[in-house]
Amino acid sequence: MTTWNLEGTKCHLLVCGGSSCKKRRGEDILETIEEEIEKQGAEARIHPTLTRCMGRCNDAPVIVAYPEGVWYGEMSPKLGKALVRAVLKDEMPEENRMYTFGEDGMTASSERGTKGKKKGGKAAKV
Ligand code: FES
Repeated sequence: MTTWNLEGTKCHLLVCGGSSCKKRRGEDILETIEEEIEKQGAEARIHPTLTRCMGRCNDAPVIVAYPEGVWYGEMSPKLGKALVRAVLKDEMPEENRMYTFGEDGMTASSERGTKGKKKGGKAAKV
């Protein structure tokens, strides 16, 4: 088990490791992201984390970037690498973007983000 000192981290990349994302190369994406972070010497700036299912399985593989709150779907190792490079330029790519978090909460960034079962009254199970 590792305990990182995250002071100075600018971006947290949550890479879904749920079963749907795993089936579509989710772990390869995480590996590519980690390699690119190391190649760019950006270990202190970008912190990648493998998560459980993030509830957008039809869009697998999914990555969420914080603090921007940008959700990406149908990612690939190539797009993961491009995401790392963009983050280092303080940019968030538009390609494959599903949602962006803002003052009004999550907003669909593409038609993809408007699809799915509508969430209602009950809190999601964690
Ligand atoms: S397994 Fe990744 S969103 Fe469900």
